[in-house]
Amino acid sequence: AGAPNPKPPEPIRGLLGMGWGDLGVNGEPSRETPNLDRMAAEGMLFPNFYSANPLCSPSRAALLTGRLPIRNGFYTTNAHARNGYTPQEIVGGIPDSELLLPELLKEAGYVSKIVGKWHLGHRPQFHPLKHGFDEWFGSPNCHFGPYNNRARPNIPVYRDREMVGRFYEEFPINLKTGEANLTQIYLQEALDFIKTQQARGRPFFLYWAVDATHAPVYASKPFLGTSRRGRYGDAVREVDDSVGRILSLLGDLRIRESTFVFFTSDNGAALVSAPRQGGSNGPFLCGKQTTFEGGMREPAIAWWPGHVPAAQVSYQLGSVMDLFTTSLSLAGLKPPSDRAIDGLDLLPAMLQGRLTDRPIFYYRGNTLMAGRPPRAGSGVPRASLTFPPASLQGVDFCPGQNVSGVTTHTQEEHTELPLIFHLGRDPGERYPLRFDSTEYLDALGRISPVVRQHQAALVPGQPQLNVCDRAVMNWAPPGCEKLGKCLTPPESVPEKCSWPH
Ligand SMILES: *[C@@H]1O[C@H](CO)[C@@H](O)[C@H](O)[C@H]1NC(C)=O
Ligand SMILES: *[C@@H]1O[C@H](CO)[C@@H](O)[C@H](O)[C@H]1NC(C)=O
Repeated sequence: AGAPNPKPPEPIRGLLGMGWGDLGVNGEPSRETPNLDRMAAEGMLFPNFYSANPLCSPSRAALLTGRLPIRNGFYTTNAHARNGYTPQEIVGGIPDSELLLPELLKEAGYVSKIVGKWHLGHRPQFHPLKHGFDEWFGSPNCHFGPYNNRARPNIPVYRDREMVGRFYEEFPINLKTGEANLTQIYLQEALDFIKTQQARGRPFFLYWAVDATHAPVYASKPFLGTSRRGRYGDAVREVDDSVGRILSLLGDLRIRESTFVFFTSDNGAALVSAPRQGGSNGPFLCGKQTTFEGGMREPAIAWWPGHVPAAQVSYQLGSVMDLFTTSLSLAGLKPPSDRAIDGLDLLPAMLQGRLTDRPIFYYRGNTLMAGRPPRAGSGVPRASLTFPPASLQGVDFCPGQNVSGVTTHTQEEHTELPLIFHLGRDPGERYPLRFDSTEYLDALGRISPVVRQHQAALVPGQPQLNVCDRAVMNWAPPGCEKLGKCLTPPESVPEKCSWPH
């Protein structure tokens, strides 16, 4: 009826560090995500869905470019196998040479908006509106703070090209009570955008990148204290409620059948923030920062009533990078042919139940840590080439999870003889297959050529996460003069960023 365009527009959402195991439909015992569970009941669940990196910035850069961080530059060479991201001191950001999803969707007439955390570089040349988005409401960095605006500035909140305030100032986050209204503000931005585009009959792309589940976790008053899982659960409940409101607006506007919605997260739940602010990675080992399954496996639900069949589970190996390729395909566009693209079109899996062979690569920074062979057949193996450290500088990424010889506190090389786990019967990576078993040899035979081929063909991008400088922090963001919120930057001292994760 009221569908504005025969081509499906699509909101995508990327949630910060919400874990695979936080969804009722994935087995969370408190069952506090009724809206996400309903979304799965009306759509398709992808239990084998992965991030491209166990940390937020590289994962988001991969989502929007369809390329592994090692290709799009969202990695560091300051140390081997370290995760870099975009804190305030970072000098780099998403290179102009990268083509982002909203830039490409423009060719098909799409209007694009990002709501929430960007994390692809905070200096003006890296902003969303310089890389294809038409609108932005949110922040360039994490909502850490409060800062005193002398040693470091508070993170600005932007509307489009200009700041409209800062976290802990115009946009309060009460660290004691956990109260903040940001999810409600982000929800309203999403609802308004959808209504406006529907009224104008424009196809749209909404990237709803909320961050309430990232420490310091927050929720608005009506949700605080309502979860059986503490403050983290309150944040999950508010996000879940917001998803419900977005989906019901699509129904009210009669654009359910012309709107494709995908729900996922950018990395595994941060067990470093546990027990008070950490989520659940279900049966998987460790969490954010690590390339064990708990750091890389993501909750994932596709929803498109009338097209994606209801109540289905797809065993397709999926990745956040697939959202790039799938979105282009939905818009009738092809991915760029002048560069390597890692994303896969998920439409055959969603519309015809057809599974496509494809590997999954697990990277930390510049180092390939593990791989899953293309065919997720009955063996369901994963080969670990290198174990990530289970802790760095005293920070434990695997609290309470001690697997002898696996969660080691130094990085362990196994490249010559990878350790292989059967994820079907051992999702927690506790029992490596015996080296002399046929199962091991069979899995090795499937993964080794894929890894060799990948590494031989790989052309790494210029690393963007090597240089830090306090002078580039958010001292005087565009628009600060109108608000009287410009601060004076210190002298520029570029140095190598040090990455503790
Ligand atoms: C959230 O909004 C309510 C209602 O406007 C207000 O009373 C409250 O102070 C706000 N809380 C924060 C932390 O901004
Ligand atoms: C982990 O387990 C190993 C062997 O099972 C044991 O030697 C070690 O002390 C344990 N480490 C911790 C931190 O519990």
